[in-house]
Amino acid sequence: MQRRAFLKSTCNVCMLLTAGAFLPTLSGCGPAAYKVITSEIHDNQVEIPLAGFAQSPLQLVRPKGWMYSIAVRKKEDNTYTALLLKCTHQDNQLTPTANGGYSCSLHGSTFNTTGRVTKGPAERPLKEYPITTDTTNLIIHLKA
Ligand code: FES
Repeated sequence: MQRRAFLKSTCNVCMLLTAGAFLPTLSGCGPAAYKVITSEIHDNQVEIPLAGFAQSPLQLVRPKGWMYSIAVRKKEDNTYTALLLKCTHQDNQLTPTANGGYSCSLHGSTFNTTGRVTKGPAERPLKEYPITTDTTNLIIHLKA
């Protein structure tokens, strides 16, 4: 191997190792990434397994064909809330924040865990859906 080729391959390995060392740090800086569960709609209802809440109190559900997700949160009293992550200002998709609320990247509105506005320009709270549970599933009632 020629000296130039050796140096080039060695530098590439060093860059990969350096990037690998810093990636976990960088990913910790941004908002937590949540897996979105896509669920079929049956009789204006979607179901998700209750077991998912063992890993995280927040589950994001996207009814099949919808543009927006629903944030389902298990509260400390073991009840649940289901909020449509559609900004009430101009309909932008909201994202969960590190403090447990939701934020809009378009004009900066923020909402708390119950869907109330904590910072405008949005003025109305998020749409909330009724929820029931059975022994294994949580059911979100889309028409209420
Ligand atoms: S669309 Fe969300 S703040 Fe404007």
